[in-house]
Amino acid sequence: MTDKDSKDGIYPEPQFDRGPIADIASARASRRQFIKGVIASGVVASSAGLMYGCSREEVAASGGVERMLRLTINGETRTVDVLPNETLAMTLRYKLNLTGTKLGCDRGECGACTVLIDDVSTYSCSTLTHMVRGRSITTIEGLESADGTLHPVQQAMIDELGPQCGFCTPGQILSAVALLKSNPSPTRDEVRHALSGNLCRCGAYDHYLNSVMRAAEMA
Ligand code: FES
Ligand code: FES
Repeated sequence: MTDKDSKDGIYPEPQFDRGPIADIASARASRRQFIKGVIASGVVASSAGLMYGCSREEVAASGGVERMLRLTINGETRTVDVLPNETLAMTLRYKLNLTGTKLGCDRGECGACTVLIDDVSTYSCSTLTHMVRGRSITTIEGLESADGTLHPVQQAMIDELGPQCGFCTPGQILSAVALLKSNPSPTRDEVRHALSGNLCRCGAYDHYLNSVMRAAEMA
């Protein structure tokens, strides 16, 4: 894969407007993801229909899952067409253009895709979008106030020169925000524990810890 293959140099952007079978091929849905989707969201009829070439109308007629979802993201209601086995990370990045949510491993190991769901930090690459209906989702784009004031954790990251390349930073920030919501005065070890699911290939861990401790003092 070359950089020109992808928007962020990580994965090529899938296209979702070429019909049901192409949708699935584009999303590069693995068998594992498909099975996970069937088990987690109970969409056997719909998924099977898509896999075996039924039209969208046929899937709908069979009582398949509703694909047009209304999601609450960063305080706004967004309507989006979501495949039954689509992850929240894919929806955010490739349907809603919220590319601050990064995709690193795409298998629940690195934390780059961390978002808040009802104020709890969550790997969006391991969360089916159909499972977050009615929940409140916060991405990095939703942290600053309407007047452009940064969230205290974002400001502290700047003040402490927290990030290096910055790829893991949105995930680190959202994990820190989740921590400070539940524990406004954490110890350094508690911060370390809260951020332990967010890997940093640049090794900027101490800078991130300093930043979160500073944000806690500012609050
Ligand atoms: S991209 Fe989700 S945990 Fe790595
Ligand atoms: S700052 Fe580069 S991966 Fe964390």
